[in-house]
Amino acid sequence: MQTQVLGNAQQVNQHNDHITIQTTQATAKIWVYAPAIIRVNLTQTPDKPDTSFAVIQQPESGIQFSEDDSEIVITTDALTLRVSKAPLRFSFYTPDGQALSEDDARFGVNWQNERVVNYRKLYADEKFIGLGEKTGDLNRRGTHYVNWNTDASKHTIHTDPLYKTFPFFIGLHSGLTYGLFFDNTNKSYFDFGATTDDEMSWFGADGGDMNYYFLGAQGVANIIKDYTWLTGRMEMPPLWSIGYQQCRYSYMSADEVLGIAEKFREHNIPADVIYCDIDYMDNYKIFTWNDEAFPDPKGLVDKLKALDFRTVCIVDPGIKVEEGYKQYDEGVAKNYFATYTNGDNYVANVWPGRCHFPNFFDDEVKEWWGAAFTALTEPGVEGFWNDMNEPAAWGQNIPYLVKFGDRYMAEVRNAYGMEMTKATYNGTRKILGNKRPFMLTRAAYCGTQRFSAVWTGDNTASDEHMLYGQRLVNSLGLVGMSFTGVDIGGYTGNPTPELMLRWNSLGVYIPMYRNHAEIGTAMREPWEWGEENMAIIRKDIELRYQLLPYIYSGFYESSQNGLPLSRTLAIEHIQDENVFDVRYQNQFIFGNSILVAPVESTKLIAEVYLPEGEWYRFGSDKAYEGGMAHSVPAPLNDLPVFVKAGGIVPMQSVIQSTNETGDGILYLHIWKGSEDSTFVYYEDDGVTYDNERGVFHKREISYYAETGKVTLAVAEGSYTSKFNTLKLIPHGFGKAVKEKEVTYGIGLIEIDLK
Ligand code: GLC
Repeated sequence: MQTQVLGNAQQVNQHNDHITIQTTQATAKIWVYAPAIIRVNLTQTPDKPDTSFAVIQQPESGIQFSEDDSEIVITTDALTLRVSKAPLRFSFYTPDGQALSEDDARFGVNWQNERVVNYRKLYADEKFIGLGEKTGDLNRRGTHYVNWNTDASKHTIHTDPLYKTFPFFIGLHSGLTYGLFFDNTNKSYFDFGATTDDEMSWFGADGGDMNYYFLGAQGVANIIKDYTWLTGRMEMPPLWSIGYQQCRYSYMSADEVLGIAEKFREHNIPADVIYCDIDYMDNYKIFTWNDEAFPDPKGLVDKLKALDFRTVCIVDPGIKVEEGYKQYDEGVAKNYFATYTNGDNYVANVWPGRCHFPNFFDDEVKEWWGAAFTALTEPGVEGFWNDMNEPAAWGQNIPYLVKFGDRYMAEVRNAYGMEMTKATYNGTRKILGNKRPFMLTRAAYCGTQRFSAVWTGDNTASDEHMLYGQRLVNSLGLVGMSFTGVDIGGYTGNPTPELMLRWNSLGVYIPMYRNHAEIGTAMREPWEWGEENMAIIRKDIELRYQLLPYIYSGFYESSQNGLPLSRTLAIEHIQDENVFDVRYQNQFIFGNSILVAPVESTKLIAEVYLPEGEWYRFGSDKAYEGGMAHSVPAPLNDLPVFVKAGGIVPMQSVIQSTNETGDGILYLHIWKGSEDSTFVYYEDDGVTYDNERGVFHKREISYYAETGKVTLAVAEGSYTSKFNTLKLIPHGFGKAVKEKEVTYGIGLIEIDLK
């Protein structure tokens, strides 16, 4: 093996938006993207085009630095980067000189054959959070991870890697925070002090550059804001996609799909979405329908629409090798598929048998793929589920010889799923015009939030999978993915009735609320569990629908500043050791003020840690003191959920689907607090992109603790709210403070609670 160290700085050059430092072994480039974001790229191939799948921003021009014999210093309002010249080492500081993160003085960055590695100093109290969909604990200190998008079917709660790659982590030490985004799609590695001494951590990749963005904002929320500024934020999802979703591999015929939808209505269980998994297709050929089981796709989707259901269909990247099949013939004729180095199309087995795989790294291929969605949109499908896009092939070991155009699989595998999803998104957006498509993908890379929701793949029907799944959702939230879900009930195996109830009640607070199960498992729809259990499931799904005004406003927040809906407590409480305690690490804040404590289905009493402040149990309003753990009842019909004092939660009456307008009453729930609080309420038509042209309804709701006043600022935007009455529901204020009812208009509303 050849090891190459960076060497010493020999020459420093200033360009418009970056500086370059030349060593004997490599070139270092430094850009400032924003005051708290500095990019460093250490490369041995400085002339290669500089591209990123993730980053959507440009660097600032006019970079400034100072230089003396020993170092180069770049200073912004928020961050200082000191580059020592001999040897070349990179260290980041706060403006007042506190060390945020430093290269390991001994090893810094070096190359080991093609592999590039950065060794960094490990601080005594340093914790690490992030990396998205990774098993293990909230605090990743002492663990190591690999990023290599994998079809991780039958995975355990320890399996690594899983389906997605997010080489972005947040470091916490000395009361400080920093983020580091290693933008490299090769197979990558993160070792947070697992296999080194206590002096250093390291990360690296099997190829490419040491190309990272250092984020120096203070506070985890600010780092997430900056990271999602850099890599983009989600757009408002279709409102229907945040209702209840029912899925199964597979409902085998149009009749079965329709029958399931009808049952929801018969049983008065709210729902919005039903899925067609792979069996709707003719022999798993993408963009076809099985004309025996699904003879009239449009007829089916129309009937579902009449029942207020939207349809989501799965698409996989594998194109069946079969002459006469349009996608195959066209793809072969136009060289749209992945190839071996000799130009032969690469072939591997997936659901349809022998398949080719579109080269989604090519714009023309993306266009071609996107345009084919008329096969689904013409019958009226509005949701598109991108699966098997790691990409998966039976055997799971696609040869490194495979190429996508001029790129080897090894360089770009981790971005394949995102590029497929981008193609689906662009294509369906074009076809659907002003209508929002719903997008779901299994594989992802940084930036996927711009196009799609994600779910965590093939989990198992067990309590431990339910709990770790929540950790995945919370961790995905740290890397910009707000619209996330898990297969509720567990994909593989059969949940006990208790687990089904518990998981479904947790699902109320999972951004994407989808029940899904594997072929061969017992049916799992809400009515499969007996009358009594169905009543509990119904109540929970009803609660989800009641909470939609709060949840939709939460997604608005994600679209504006990147903060996720499901937030690990570590976002707000980095100094609170209890938050990282394995007993409490699954807990999360849903939106702004609801704390949810996931609990095994076998425990009817839970130990819950409530952070600093005062809390109320959602439902009973029993008050709890924060900064300590409490033992609380956790029956299967009452998941431990708490609201922060001062919490503002807009709700609505139960509706059976988001297609219903409801009764026009907005219930504004407010829990007494000793500090002022605010909430941004947001509404739009939930279906079109008119919101991007000002057709929304948005206002700030404030609670003033001292005076007991609640105000709703003058509404912004031209959308007419579906609410005409406001009912203010006070909690924790004592019996003397009664509900108030006023007209809900767009002007300033002031209500006195006292
Ligand atoms: C994969 C997906 C799963 C889906 C199945 C059949 O295993 O992860 O959700 O049901 O393929 O399409």
